[in-house]
Amino acid sequence: MYSEKQKAMLKWVVYQIYPRSFSDSNGDGIGDIPGIISKIDYLRELGVNAVWLCPCYKSPNDDNGYDVSDYREIMEEFGTLEDAKELISALHLRGMKLIMDLVPNHTSSSHRWFLESRKSAAPDNPYRDYYYWADEPLNDWRACFGGSAWEYDPVRKQYYLHSYAVSQPDLNWNNPSVVKEMQDVVDFWVDLGVDGFRIDVIDQISKDFENGRNCFGPRLHEFIHALFGREKTAHLFTVGECWANDIDEIERHAGQDRGELTTLFQFDHMECGRSDKFTPKPDSLRSLRDILVRWSSLMTGRDLIQTLFTDNHDQNRFISRMGNDAELRYESATCIAAMVYGLKGVPFIYQGQEYGSAGSHYDRIGDFRDIESLNMFEELKSEMPEGPAMEKINFGSRDNARRPMAWNGGKNGGFTEGTPWIPVSSRWKEINLLSDLQSEKSVWRFYRELLAIRRKYDAVTEGETVFLSSDADPFFAYLRTGPDDSGRILYVCNFESESEIRLPLEGKALLSNCGRKRVSGTYRPYETAVFLIKR
Ligand code: NOJ
Repeated sequence: MYSEKQKAMLKWVVYQIYPRSFSDSNGDGIGDIPGIISKIDYLRELGVNAVWLCPCYKSPNDDNGYDVSDYREIMEEFGTLEDAKELISALHLRGMKLIMDLVPNHTSSSHRWFLESRKSAAPDNPYRDYYYWADEPLNDWRACFGGSAWEYDPVRKQYYLHSYAVSQPDLNWNNPSVVKEMQDVVDFWVDLGVDGFRIDVIDQISKDFENGRNCFGPRLHEFIHALFGREKTAHLFTVGECWANDIDEIERHAGQDRGELTTLFQFDHMECGRSDKFTPKPDSLRSLRDILVRWSSLMTGRDLIQTLFTDNHDQNRFISRMGNDAELRYESATCIAAMVYGLKGVPFIYQGQEYGSAGSHYDRIGDFRDIESLNMFEELKSEMPEGPAMEKINFGSRDNARRPMAWNGGKNGGFTEGTPWIPVSSRWKEINLLSDLQSEKSVWRFYRELLAIRRKYDAVTEGETVFLSSDADPFFAYLRTGPDDSGRILYVCNFESESEIRLPLEGKALLSNCGRKRVSGTYRPYETAVFLIKR
């Protein structure tokens, strides 16, 4: 049985904002908090009731805010602490929630703690053990953005550990002062009224040095509990970011009585069988379906909350990897949405997804900003000519999802009056919110209807799920059955080829991406429909 807290959270629909690229209010080319405030009513109209804000703390921006130099200050380009407070109250006024991004595994190397820490290894330096220091690298770990994970610091004359960029040193959570510091950071934001946190690489705050893993160490439960198992934090919505594929492990962190997290993201479907994100493979919606079915069964079977998402700021757009974003962009976008957002769990929608944003293409590395892409390009160039290296970057770059929101087809997509910090999508004239809204085939309107169905029928938020398609079928069909008589909702999503679909159910079409009326029949490529099934 889901707890009351879980039941309430199953009604959340979260919209992820990448502040740098959302809306620029002052013409400096960088999105900001006043820009976000000006769009809250837009979000409400879409039907979301919570916002997850990617990091907006003070930062030198080597990793766009995931390198925090002060957890209690707002990044200057984004605004002020007063703006953040205003955002919280503007959301609350409309019954909406705010989830902040907490980055507890590492700081920026310009954070005061690191500046103090590197000064000396002497016992009288209170910051001495805030990070992992050693006379020699302790192992051969590689950093996520390339190179060794150990960097020599000429000031302290020792090596420090950085799982990401050189300027993102890992905090040493084995030091009780670090735990206390991070508790204080959480409390600071809770006192300001935030409703939850998305926690960056939560699995890495405890390292398993013994088994050579920089994650899932022996003290992970203790540390997460120290953050979120307290009376002050028990009410929060907390979603941990980590690539956990073991359901028992997930249950140990997100089970109801654990006093740790509300849920963890499941990333299996982000890969769908690909070995690395810079290499395209013929991905198919079949593997997406199979992964969704598997996780949905595992999670609901154990009363865990599933996170429902396709896009985020770390991947190319899902429709460009799994759908047909050239000829059937509207159909792909709506079909994929119906595959995911009718399931039981908490939907997360990433900015731009709601008008069918797709990946873009650039010929020059100078049009990219992401540290991961830039470092990867240097590595690739040593293995292949520049042309194929650029192809890989275009396919895998996180910048695909970080290009500014295209609010309209005008200058800079209506994102800024100034020069955008990163070029707008190369497809902005064709793919932007205004032209989507003006089109008969509007991804936005489909999303709004899909979310309205979630709100209206308890079957979708609370009910059970019956999967009607089998592994062999070229489509995905699932039925959500209500706890009461409010109705059963059927989702039918055809894959990339035309199919004959026969299901022993009849009902009223609530939503369709091509005017379908009846459940059974011939479905076009990426055709999808949602039905209210008669009792
Ligand atoms: C995961 C975040 O989503 C990503 O953007 C970031 O670069 C790394 N964690 C490091 O903080």
